[in-house]
Amino acid sequence: MRRIAIINQKGGVGKTTTTVNLAAALAAAGQRVCVLDLDPQAHATTHLGIEPDGKSPSMYDVLVNNRPLAEVRRQVADNLWVAASDINLAAAEVELAGVVGREVILRDLLLQDEGCFDFIFMDCGPSLGVLTLNALSSASEVFIPLQPHFLALHGMGKLLETTSLVARRINPGLKVTGIILSLFEGGARLSREVVQDLEEYFERARSTATPWAKATIFRSRIRRNIKLAECPSFGKSIFDYAPHCNGAEDYAALAREVLGGTQTPPPPTVLSARVELDERGQVSVLQGGHELEEVGSRK
Ligand SMILES: Nc1ncnc2c1ncn2[C@@H]1O[C@H](COP(=O)(O)OP(=O)(O)O)[C@@H](O)[C@H]1O
Ligand SMILES: [Mg+2]
Repeated sequence: MRRIAIINQKGGVGKTTTTVNLAAALAAAGQRVCVLDLDPQAHATTHLGIEPDGKSPSMYDVLVNNRPLAEVRRQVADNLWVAASDINLAAAEVELAGVVGREVILRDLLLQDEGCFDFIFMDCGPSLGVLTLNALSSASEVFIPLQPHFLALHGMGKLLETTSLVARRINPGLKVTGIILSLFEGGARLSREVVQDLEEYFERARSTATPWAKATIFRSRIRRNIKLAECPSFGKSIFDYAPHCNGAEDYAALAREVLGGTQTPPPPTVLSARVELDERGQVSVLQGGHELEEVGSRK
């Protein structure tokens, strides 16, 4: 079961679009796929055709009330399930304050699902708070969607350092598989420069012990395509909304590339560490009562 966290602390870079359409492409290819919506904005939930009403069981119940995922997820298409988000999830961060082991709640619950799915996708919100930390602690892999424009790489160092910290303290198996270039405009000189910078950055990391030592940029680029921006409001994936557009072609190509790299990851190793959130919203990982490092802010 490949457990993939889709992460970038920047908003509007294509995380949700990628989660939903890549999941739909893999489901259409016969893979059993479950999307966990970890963003209180619930965009993936809506995109997959479920209206978040704040009453139906959601990821809030999973994280705060330890409700099994099997009771929360709903099937939305052949081979495709979603564990919905709703606005209640925004309170989870605060409600979990002081709960020991709150950064590994999801990992422990996901263990019950080992073998039920081929792919778990976790759509994260634009922050490195406790919801994203739960995703990183449960994931075998990280995919980072990135819009190659000015300042695209700004914040990348912090994001990668966060994966490194989680790998060292909580989830030793965590790997950054790669970057997905989204909202791509091939003709732009800036796109080429960003891609070159990234390639050089990853090349330099090849012999290091970091989670991104084997990271690459996926060959399939997701071009800017208006149909991709239209389909969420119809609660449909691009394959149901406009199956012959560039957007559908690009996500189908990405799905083939992702499938080509499938190796069965081991179930997560369990390390005991915990996180603290101070009054400024800074997240830190603690072990043995000593603060180790600061990993990010909720902003
Ligand atoms: N390849 C694309 N072409 C056109 N619009 C896109 C594309 N990818 C995403 N969008 C649109 O850009 C906006 C931000 O994308 P989204 O996936 O919601 O980003 P994030 O989840 O990172 O905040 C949304 O309105 C989405 O429909
Ligand atoms: Mg999103």
